[in-house]
Amino acid sequence: MAHEPRARLGQKLAELLPGDINKVFFTLGGAEANEYAIKMARWVTGRHKIVSRYRSYHGATAGAIALTGDPRRWANDIGDSGVVHVLDPYHGPQREVDSAEESLRYLEETIQLEGPSTIAGFILEPVTGTNGILIPPDGYLQGVRELCDRYGILMICDEVMSGFGRTGEWFAVNHWKVVPDIITMAKGLTSSYVPLGAVGIRPKVADYFEKNVFYGGLTYNSHPLACAAALGTIQAYEEDDMIGNARRMGEVMKRHHQELRRKHRSVGLTRAIGLFGILELVKDRKTMEPLAPFNGTSEPMKALAKSLRDQGLYTFVRWHTIMTNPPLCINEEELAEGFAIIDKALDIADQAVA
Ligand SMILES: Cc1ncc(COP(=O)(O)O)c(C=O)c1O
Repeated sequence: MAHEPRARLGQKLAELLPGDINKVFFTLGGAEANEYAIKMARWVTGRHKIVSRYRSYHGATAGAIALTGDPRRWANDIGDSGVVHVLDPYHGPQREVDSAEESLRYLEETIQLEGPSTIAGFILEPVTGTNGILIPPDGYLQGVRELCDRYGILMICDEVMSGFGRTGEWFAVNHWKVVPDIITMAKGLTSSYVPLGAVGIRPKVADYFEKNVFYGGLTYNSHPLACAAALGTIQAYEEDDMIGNARRMGEVMKRHHQELRRKHRSVGLTRAIGLFGILELVKDRKTMEPLAPFNGTSEPMKALAKSLRDQGLYTFVRWHTIMTNPPLCINEEELAEGFAIIDKALDIADQAVA
């Protein structure tokens, strides 16, 4: 049903979203937004395959978990989802970040081998979240845009984690001035106080649904309470300049990262863009062997995670990494307090690798 908060939120998002993305379809969260993104891509192009990346997470529902590349997919990997996984530019402790050209060459070869006429969309997190805060090399997203245009593939950006200021821009794609055909969002849309997600689409996608019914939407679709919460959240982002704060505090956070790397032998690599950051812990800075195996943990990582919790700091510790993704309203003193806790906990990792 039409209602005022929904209409006002649609209008506001059309202003904020990149380029000519000017229509949105509301969902209950991120996974559902990705389900519709791939449905739309399939309907609009008449093609069935979706390309996604191994180092990705797109949600836990049936379609979204098939898109997901990381091990959360394995238990449900029934093999006929139409999803083709590709590697993204490598980032990690053991070698240099791949160049954009190299990654794009492999991507194009995969597209050709799969058959461009069978591929509806390519879904990617512009800055990858839970798989390691992977910041693409300059030129990569522009190159993906160009390949998608060349082969008639819709570019779908999952900004569920990277959107709404997390990277110091309203949307991560803005850093590279790329406009996807479909963009999905949730989390920061309401600052996660109330469940709400959305799919934003460009006119070239929206036009198809002017003439064709969009079979989608769950019972609680576009709930007035959630739409009102999103409007209130966006107002607060603007009034309190939360996006600017994320950009400014992001620079402060980078200095904390550098300081931790200087002080702690177990800190192998750090990355951050805005308030989206990560520390990668290693056993040895020469071999750069991670402190826990891929998809696993280790006693030092468990002890470190426990120390952070015991000191009252809640953050995501996964495999050999510690994520540093504080609230966008954080100030310098609070950042210093958080990083002092991480500093202390890192002594545990240092002792383990000594
Ligand atoms: C990048 C990304 N996409 C999608 C999702 C799924 O969102 P939700 O948990 O709201 O379904 C997540 C959740 O962590 C995410 O990080």
